[in-house]
Parts: sequence; C-alpha cells; structure tokens
Amino acid sequence: MDCSATVSIRFDSDDEGIKTDLARLADQLGLPAPARETGDCDYLLTMNGERLELHRNDPKVSRKTRLYVDFLSGPSYYRYVNNRTIRQPLARAVGIRQGYRPILLDATAGFGEDSFVLAALGCSVTMLERSPIIWALLENGIKRCRSHPEIGAIFSRRVRLSRTEARQFLADCKQPFDTIYLDPMYPHRTKSSLNRQNMRVLRELAGDDSDSGLLLDAALTHARKRVTVKRPARAESLGGVEPSFSIAARSSRYDIYLIPQSRSEDDPPF
Ligand SMILES: C[S@@+](CC[C@H](N)C(=O)[O-])C[C@H]1O[C@@H](n2cnc3c(N)ncnc32)[C@H](O)[C@@H]1O
Repeated sequence: MDCSATVSIRFDSDDEGIKTDLARLADQLGLPAPARETGDCDYLLTMNGERLELHRNDPKVSRKTRLYVDFLSGPSYYRYVNNRTIRQPLARAVGIRQGYRPILLDATAGFGEDSFVLAALGCSVTMLERSPIIWALLENGIKRCRSHPEIGAIFSRRVRLSRTEARQFLADCKQPFDTIYLDPMYPHRTKSSLNRQNMRVLRELAGDDSDSGLLLDAALTHARKRVTVKRPARAESLGGVEPSFSIAARSSRYDIYLIPQSRSEDDPPF
C-alpha cells in the first residue's frame, strides 16, 4: 500500500457521545486525538450525526466533496432496489447460479459496493480492507444499516468485515472460501473511471495496489472453486496471468480463474 494522503480527526460538536466515538476511532486508527483545530492535512474525518465523513481539508473545495459509505440511499441502494438478478455479470462472475450461493471472500472491500450486491443475492461474504480510513468509513456505513429491517439483516447475517491485509489473512486462514473476489485499484485507470469522486479519493487513500499480482497468487492457492478479478474493460489480465474465461460488464470485465477440481469437492464451478 502506497498512501501519501494525511488524515486528521476533527471534532466540532458539543455532543459527548460523538466526542467519545471519535476518540475511540483515533485510538483504533493510530491518529492524534480529535481536535477542533486540525492544522495541515489532506483530509479530515468527522461525524455528521451518526455518519462518519471524510472531507478534503481545503476551504476552496466544495462541501459536496464529503465522502461517506451509504447503503441506505444513493447508487448502492438504487442498485439494491432495482437490480437483484442473478444474471448480472458480477453475480455470474463469482459463480452464483440458481440454487447455489458461493461462500465469498472479498479481499479488496473498498467501499463495499460489490460485497453488498453479493450479500443481497444471498452469499455469505467476508470483506477485507487494509486501508484504515477506508475500513473506518465502511464500518460506519454498515453500522448505520442496523435499524433497517432488510438491509440491516443482510449485513448482520451474511457479512463480516475485517481490517486486515488480505495476503496475511490468507496465509493464516484455515477457513475455505468457494470464490475469492479481487477488485484492486488499476494503476492506469482511465480519466473517465477516475471521474467518480469515490474512485479518486480511494486512489489517494489506498494507493495503486501495485502488489495485486501477489494477491492473485495467494488467492489462487487458497480458493476452492474460483478467483474472480475485476478489471477495466480493455486492461491486460492481472499480473499477465491468463484467466480461464472472462465476462464483460458495462465498463469493466471479470476475469475468472477456475481452480482445478482437486480442491473443489462438490458442485461444478459454473
Ligand atoms: C478499487 S477498491 C475496491 C472497490 C470495491 N470493490 C467496491 O465495490 O467498493 C480496492 C480496495 O482494495 C483494498 N486493497 C487492495 N489490496 C488489498 C490487500 N492486499 N488487502 C486488503 N485490502 C486491499 C484497497 O485499500 C482499496 O480500498
């Protein structure tokens, strides 16, 4: 991970509960204690009610550039309401089919959008995220779903989030996963794919994920049935390793690496 962005926690409310939550967060992330005046840094983490937000620390930048994880409105919610078919490319790419839901490891969770789709389709998903700031935003987004009857249940029953480096997790892990899903940052993402604010900030916080070829190696050693890698539509395959087959999506592609049958005991892989 190659992250050059600096982050401080700002506390600008009189609410003692928020103050305690932010102090705990600073502790967890190894950041200085929250303060009203934060001085020089690239980003500020702060609470807006229950919501953890990341702001660019630049008075010239519009307030709209605040970033938070939200499964209860916006694009993720829209997708949840309008597109829950198992025929969508992401679902087919991880091996979902009628009557079968793989046990999934999302080793590059990011803002959790893909994991949410897959959990909503009925998969158990273990999400891993190594960037502390991205993990904190994601964890808060999941926490705020608790009171939603359907989405809260999806997260509490099917999703687990861990702040960890995926290669280390896989080295220590005895639990089998049918599919390991990887969506690392692509070093040469086109301008249009970086246009989305979330992607630009992700890049600044997470770096280029230049070790993703090694993560693919680890995933191929561990997965029971397949490893699925999301790539930009015209990008080369990750680490130059040819997939078994690919599935095209709107502006991206899923490369699927089937694991030889020796490690997958029951269902056929697709
Ligand atoms: C492009 S984003 C993933 C976006 C995600 N699929 C979504 O739907 O929001 C890549 C994320 O993977 C994380 N990541 C990359 N390599 C990792 C690793 N080896 N272990 C854990 N997290 C990793 C990065 O920190 C970054 O947040």
